[in-house]
Amino acid sequence: MQHSPIKLTGVSKVYDSELVETHALSDINLEIAAGDYVSISGPSGCGKSTLLSILGLLDTPTSGQYLIDGIDVTSLDFNQSAEIRNEKIGFVFQSFNLIDELNAFDNVALPLRYSMKSRSADEIEKLVNRALEMVDMSHRKMHFPNQLSGGQQQRIAIARAIVHHPTILLVDEPTGNLDTKSGDMVMQLLADLNEKGVTICMVTHDARYANATKTQLKLKDGVLMQGKPAEKAIAEVAV
Ligand SMILES: Nc1ncnc2c1ncn2[C@@H]1O[C@H](COP(=O)(O)OP(=O)(O)OP(=O)(O)O)[C@@H](O)[C@H]1O
Ligand SMILES: [Mg+2]
Repeated sequence: MQHSPIKLTGVSKVYDSELVETHALSDINLEIAAGDYVSISGPSGCGKSTLLSILGLLDTPTSGQYLIDGIDVTSLDFNQSAEIRNEKIGFVFQSFNLIDELNAFDNVALPLRYSMKSRSADEIEKLVNRALEMVDMSHRKMHFPNQLSGGQQQRIAIARAIVHHPTILLVDEPTGNLDTKSGDMVMQLLADLNEKGVTICMVTHDARYANATKTQLKLKDGVLMQGKPAEKAIAEVAV
């Protein structure tokens, strides 16, 4: 039996300030099967970023359980949580978040060099070159971010996010800073990576992109509306 690598059960998030209590997420039950490509869409303020932050261990739920590869990550301390995040999560942000002083190769190598898992220089080089190949950027590995186009920078950011073979790649509005052509190329790249087995969860405002994923989830006022899950994903969960 194959377990879903990502499983949220009864997850809620309440932001409690002095004057007002905001229920950002209410009783979210969500399983993401290995190999799935999930989009999360919904109106501004519905809880998309909150959900992505919880999935990426950048924030903790107020209640509920979150399992990554069977590990209950809601009960971990700060360091344990950082370790799981480094090993099992890949992030791609709207604004690329590359380090200007590092060339493309060194940007992609970052998660490996900061990992608790020690790897030889040869092993790092092999993994980085493989990730650069996957995003078709091998020819630009010595370039610095300011010598790359927006679309190329996002491809390097994607290579950095997948270089350590994360359990899940979390993607937040990846085309928000790109023109339509570069945005379409980045989306094609994500679809290709998913074909190669990378599990992806993406927040997007763009219905065109949301509708192209295998599983489409919609959030409304912090409540998850099930969209059109992929048959394959359902089958894997049901086994
Ligand atoms: N740190 C915080 N403190 C208090 N309330 C917050 C905090 N962060 C988010 N919220 C509230 O939680 C709700 C969900 O916010 P969230 O950022 O997840 O929305 P979103 O769907 O990502 O919106 P957008 O599409 O505009 O990015 C909103 O009502 C927001 O005001
Ligand atoms: Mg948001």
